Amino acid sequence: MENNTDMRTIQWFPGHMAKTRRAIAANLKLVDAVVEIIDARAPMSSRNPEIDQITAKKPRLVLLNKCDLADPGATQGWINALKSSNVEALAVDCKSGKGLGRLMTTLKSTVLAELMEKRAKNGMTGAPIRLMILGIPNVGKSSLINRMAGSKRTKVEDRPGVTRTKQWVKLKDNTELLDMPGVLWPKFADQEAAIRLAFTGAISDEILDVETLAMKLLSFLAGSYPQSLTDRYKIELSETDDGLALLEKVGKKRGMVVSGGEINTERAAITVLDEFRSGKLGRITLELPERS
Ligand code: G4P
Repeated sequence: MENNTDMRTIQWFPGHMAKTRRAIAANLKLVDAVVEIIDARAPMSSRNPEIDQITAKKPRLVLLNKCDLADPGATQGWINALKSSNVEALAVDCKSGKGLGRLMTTLKSTVLAELMEKRAKNGMTGAPIRLMILGIPNVGKSSLINRMAGSKRTKVEDRPGVTRTKQWVKLKDNTELLDMPGVLWPKFADQEAAIRLAFTGAISDEILDVETLAMKLLSFLAGSYPQSLTDRYKIELSETDDGLALLEKVGKKRGMVVSGGEINTERAAITVLDEFRSGKLGRITLELPERS
């Protein structure tokens, strides 16, 4: 990706983060395990790097959500990579509910195996399993709770921490879910990570203007998923195309021309970003695990 000097900085203030951390810590005491949601299209960038410290080693299952939008081969690669660092992960689609059927059995047979065994020994198998959902904004926390609860609940606000009044959503299999998930701050230490999150729409387009963002996305796609561009936009790619050239090709093909024959690159940019985010460009993963 090209370097960008124009990126506006979005940051979570230290006070904000401390408050979030405290709220999460207070609720962690009440649960047996944490379900951490990340975006399968950008598993590293959508993962708060301080999660280990934040969850204080609570048993944790990672859900690679939005797997319907991600490259299936890459998702499997991420699951394997996480497993090899002793992190249990499942690919899910909280919009349709795909993959969620395995959530509880996986939890019980992996990260909660020890607890289950202990409870069985002590004749405590009737005790509920309590869970808390954690993840950055827009990653699918509310969708997961709605799916698991089987009912539509109010949208969780993107603000730090969790609600003061704790409510438990009772699920089948004697499981209870904290009604409000913990909203973690995304990682902005790395500019590339911020850009990938902006591609997915997890952070608003304020970080960069839409044209710059779309140009960066198009350059990435031309390099990693050229067929998604040629299939969708019926454009021909050339090695010399930079982001602007690609954006103009898309705009031209879609007839986004203003008076004088100039391409309306802003409209083209909005189209490209929308189509990427809704999966119309195909199943795409923005970052791959490092090869060990
Ligand atoms: P949050 O609580 O973590 O902030 O996220 P939320 O569940 O509100 O999800 C954010 C957006 O991501 C929603 O779209 C939601 O539908 C979508 N989403 C969640 N999980 C999945 C998934 O597995 N696959 C896909 N394709 N989308 C998912 P939205 O446009 O904000 O709302 P809407 O489309 O539901 O109306």
